[in-house]
Amino acid sequence: MATLHPVPVIDSVECIEDVVAKVVQECQNGLPSRVLYLATEASWCELSERITHYADCVEAPYSCRETGIDVWVARAIVTVEWLAGSVLVCGHRIGPATPADHDHMVPPPEGAAEVWKQAERLMELVSTGGPTEEPGRIAGLLKHDSWLVATLASDVLNRMGIPAVPQFVCDYEPDLELNDPAATSKRPVDGRFTETWESRISVDEYALFEATHPAYAVQMVELGRMVRTYSRQLADSILDVGSGPGLSTVMLAEMFPDAEIDAVEPSKAAFPHLLRNTSRHHITAHNTGITEFSGRNDYPLTVSVGASHHLDTRMFLRGMKRHTAQGGLIIVADEMIAKFRSAAERSRIITDHHFAYIEQALAHIREEDLPLAEQRRLRAIRDVDRRAPGALHKLLDEVRLERFFYRGNDSPWHRVRFTVLELEALVAGIDYDVERKTYPENFMTLAEDEGLEVIGHKRVHATLGTSDLDAGTHVFALRNGRPSDVTIGPS
Ligand SMILES: C[S@@+](CC[C@H](N)C(=O)[O-])C[C@H]1O[C@@H](n2cnc3c(N)ncnc32)[C@H](O)[C@@H]1O
Repeated sequence: MATLHPVPVIDSVECIEDVVAKVVQECQNGLPSRVLYLATEASWCELSERITHYADCVEAPYSCRETGIDVWVARAIVTVEWLAGSVLVCGHRIGPATPADHDHMVPPPEGAAEVWKQAERLMELVSTGGPTEEPGRIAGLLKHDSWLVATLASDVLNRMGIPAVPQFVCDYEPDLELNDPAATSKRPVDGRFTETWESRISVDEYALFEATHPAYAVQMVELGRMVRTYSRQLADSILDVGSGPGLSTVMLAEMFPDAEIDAVEPSKAAFPHLLRNTSRHHITAHNTGITEFSGRNDYPLTVSVGASHHLDTRMFLRGMKRHTAQGGLIIVADEMIAKFRSAAERSRIITDHHFAYIEQALAHIREEDLPLAEQRRLRAIRDVDRRAPGALHKLLDEVRLERFFYRGNDSPWHRVRFTVLELEALVAGIDYDVERKTYPENFMTLAEDEGLEVIGHKRVHATLGTSDLDAGTHVFALRNGRPSDVTIGPS
């Protein structure tokens, strides 16, 4: 695939689709403009055919001139001009947005009363920030059967200065059979014009360590609260999009155990983990992407965690909408960055955003409590000059090298390994491959463009800035069109 840094020669005529797709997504996701000159030996006839093919794929209107094509999406326009021996791809952002809030909640399902009770107590500690409870009681919750409660307890303890890890993560037996390198494909089954998630992220490590991501469980509780706030009655079926190895899907099932959950996950590497992790719950896994999924189109509730930035944001929203009942509810939890005005500013924000999570996850770790290889990793991560060109790619190559799983001690080494994953996401984000984050205001604008009403938004965890629209972990509640009188919706 052609990359945008540095600007490439178009060595095969198909590359032009990827380049145009990226420029569309960059501008749609907030970059004011992007201009690229590409050298090519291909004819305009061949190139224009590929560009119109891309436009047809994403259902974007286009107009053709003798030596140019304009492709329109609701928030961006990309013009491709033919110049002798080269081609000019020029994208411009067009267009703004609004949020909303929530207050009342339907009661939690009876089978989840204990999970909700513990979760709400822990959430109070997150919001007050003060250690009003004995760390000993909270540490007991690290062993809770519920992954949501155990993960939240580990987050609260970390905020109190104790770098804890949930017990189920410490006990997790990595099944090396599941980590088949042949299952790692570069090209996704759908969500085209990008690379696959697993080509950049170590899926088996993600399956183990993501539970130490700051605010991972907090976003799930907020997602559950929004479901209870914006539903008249709790949905009996839920579509979960981009389930990955299943951590968020299991937490969803713990909060809503009476619902049948369909989990959609295209990654061949993540899918075996998803099957393994969800086997004890009412969850049916489907190995496909959202733009390919051929299941029902009337789910009363569709959710997605951490996946919206893994494909073209508009195609993601369109896919969510297609499978949700008219008047149904869509909840999206994901990381968002702060508003940016140039590619350089976006890279700087992405770096600082991911480093904020890294610093939070590692804040209370002492080197001497770690195995030797993890001490080396920790030092390299803490010492890196994040603004030096190439330093982050080099750091990633270095800290990714050794892969061991230690057992039988209470070292917080899992947190160090989580930060390697965070670094993978950071580097993929700078390269604008796999990770293509936008900012909250823009996400809401794109949702409204697609006929989704934004009815709730909250930044549940801050990485940069003080406003609700700054970088961090966000949760959005969207209504699919007008609320119908049969399904869920606020009265
Ligand atoms: C960061 S992971 C999130 C996994 C999980 N929801 C969690 O929060 O731990 C993003 C997931 O989105 C998936 N994904 C990528 N493209 C997708 C698509 N077109 N449709 C659905 N999921 C997709 C990736 O394979 C990956 O598993």
